[in-house]
Amino acid sequence: MRVLVTAGPTREALDPVRYLTNRSSGKMGYAMADAFAQAGHAVLLISGPTNLDVPDGVDFLPIENAQEMLEAVKRHIGRMDAAVFAAAVADYRPASVSEQKIKKTGETLTLELVKTPDILGSVRGEFGFTGTLVGFAAETQNLLENARAKLQRKGCDLVIANDVSKPGIGFDSDRNEVLLVFPEHTEALPEDEKHHLAPRIVREIERIAAERITG
Ligand code: C5P
Repeated sequence: MRVLVTAGPTREALDPVRYLTNRSSGKMGYAMADAFAQAGHAVLLISGPTNLDVPDGVDFLPIENAQEMLEAVKRHIGRMDAAVFAAAVADYRPASVSEQKIKKTGETLTLELVKTPDILGSVRGEFGFTGTLVGFAAETQNLLENARAKLQRKGCDLVIANDVSKPGIGFDSDRNEVLLVFPEHTEALPEDEKHHLAPRIVREIERIAAERITG
């Protein structure tokens, strides 16, 4: 398969020296890209800034902010058989980027934020993608309900949900504990290293893709 993977955080500039971001390390997305490549698939990894090495045999497209990630996905999604959205895209960005460094003046500073584009949410409708679509859901409460709602709203075949409030797993960790949320059922995978979970999830995605083709 040709597989697109998004990974890492995005960085939303505030001025020439500052930005808004989040705690995503990119480890789960990079582990997914690596596992797909090792299983013989052609992988394009579209990633925000991380400290990770690009996995062997993976095409790499670095981006910085949500708008750039949207444009990269839009450009490449059409030729993909499967797409996995593991990036922790910032939900909001500063309404304007100051050309000069913002000076320390008042006792308080109010930032106006505007919504970033919903990349995963654009894939089925706006971009007309008909391949296998997989999203991630990082939640701190109502994990299953939120993941199931996301699956339906965004037209996904699978949502991989993890509870980011649990210590030692998820964001910025080598380990994860995930729920695989399919349209008809849910499967819990026990806590493990991201590098062990990824090949297991890749096999599920291969199965879904094969079922979509054979009907
Ligand atoms: O942030 P949220 O939990 O809604 O993210 C769910 C899924 O949507 C993830 O797969 C994430 O990569 C994707 N997403 C996206 N564009 C956004 C926000 C989230 O592609 N602006």
